[in-house]
Amino acid sequence: MSALAGKRILLVIAGGIAAYKCLELIRRLREQGASVRCILTAAGAAFVTPLSLEALSEDKVYTDLFALGRESEMGHIQLSRDADLVVVAPATANILARMAAGIADDLATTALLATDKPVLAAPAMNVRMWEHPATQANLATLRTRGLLTVGPDQGDMACGEWGYGRMAEPAAILAAIEAHFAPRRLAGVRALVTSGPTREPIDPVRYISNHSSDGRGTPSPLPSPAWVP
Ligand SMILES: Cc1cc2nc3c(=O)[nH]c(=O)nc-3n(C[C@H](O)[C@H](O)[C@H](O)COP(=O)(O)O)c2cc1C
Repeated sequence: MSALAGKRILLVIAGGIAAYKCLELIRRLREQGASVRCILTAAGAAFVTPLSLEALSEDKVYTDLFALGRESEMGHIQLSRDADLVVVAPATANILARMAAGIADDLATTALLATDKPVLAAPAMNVRMWEHPATQANLATLRTRGLLTVGPDQGDMACGEWGYGRMAEPAAILAAIEAHFAPRRLAGVRALVTSGPTREPIDPVRYISNHSSDGRGTPSPLPSPAWVP
């Protein structure tokens, strides 16, 4: 069974040219048994329609923080907490900056600030935007707070430039999501951690020890013959 079966993904789609790739991502997530709920930023709606997202996710698409009818039905706090994982794809320079600054000025950023769930971002932007110290500082800040990232890739860009900034392909984003949910290799393993030197008793008074495992981490001189009982 897929690691994604039954998982609830909240997909935040921001306003980047790569937004069209999230349609393929939704399709693949659904194939693996995950449910997908979409939040679309105002800029994101210039690149992909709520209708396409609704058709593929088979769910409502959330766009407006102040849509009171929907707020009573599904508050923005609940929206962010109902998910097992929040995925931001494409993650624009703008949304990363707002996340880093803790700004909550639309539904997407309010949900991202309110969530207590892991967040995976797939950055997508022009290479200069990607390399800008502000973007790199924002990402560094977000990573120290636990943000997971996938990509960006290197290559030709829609703007005609070349470099890092292309959003990771849907297959790679899916693989990152699967890896997040995959059972950890050490799950269920019982480990005994010891420290200090190894001592093998010869009798109740004497023992043989080993300098290389005495915990000091430095090579010790060979024991003199006087040590040998
Ligand atoms: C044609 C076009 C393509 C754009 N592509 C990107 C992009 O790939 N990445 C990005 O960070 N911004 C891109 N932008 C700029 C964003 O749309 C803009 O910063 C917007 O405010 C992002 O808002 P959001 O993060 O709330 O969705 C693009 C703008 C236009 C007009």
